[in-house]
Amino acid sequence: MPALTVNGKSHSVDVAPDTPLLWALRDVIGLTGTKFGCGIAACGACTVHVDGQPMRSCVTPVQAVIGKQIVTIEAIEQDPVGRRVQAAWRELDVVQCGYCQSGQIMAATALLAATPRPSDADIDAAMAGNLCRCGTYGRIRSAIKRAAERT
Ligand code: FES
Ligand code: FES
Repeated sequence: MPALTVNGKSHSVDVAPDTPLLWALRDVIGLTGTKFGCGIAACGACTVHVDGQPMRSCVTPVQAVIGKQIVTIEAIEQDPVGRRVQAAWRELDVVQCGYCQSGQIMAATALLAATPRPSDADIDAAMAGNLCRCGTYGRIRSAIKRAAERT
């Protein structure tokens, strides 16, 4: 039975090795903050961190992340960068329906961890794959800049 390290804890998950990580997180471990949008790596709703890198959990098989550190939205406030991102999100009231937002925050946190002072082009490159049907893109950009000012 594969064991996954999620948010610092080990979980044995009774799934086939090719099961998408998203379903292990949501249906087996019970972490439902990570969302299903498209299932084909085209929307970003399912973004988690694997060894600090943003990954689309809908197309990442469980067998590919055994032994790696997986972080989901539920633990992002324990990360100093993630905490700043969430604070900026709240201050600027970024969220509309909310469905895409855990993926947006995971992508933004990974961006700022790698590039503490991102240019507009850096933000475009990092966030382009995270879609928002509510069109919160302007507030997302402002919140990333707000969080960057606090590094
Ligand atoms: S659900 Fe994974 S990218 Fe859309
Ligand atoms: S806030 Fe509704 S999809 Fe992004």
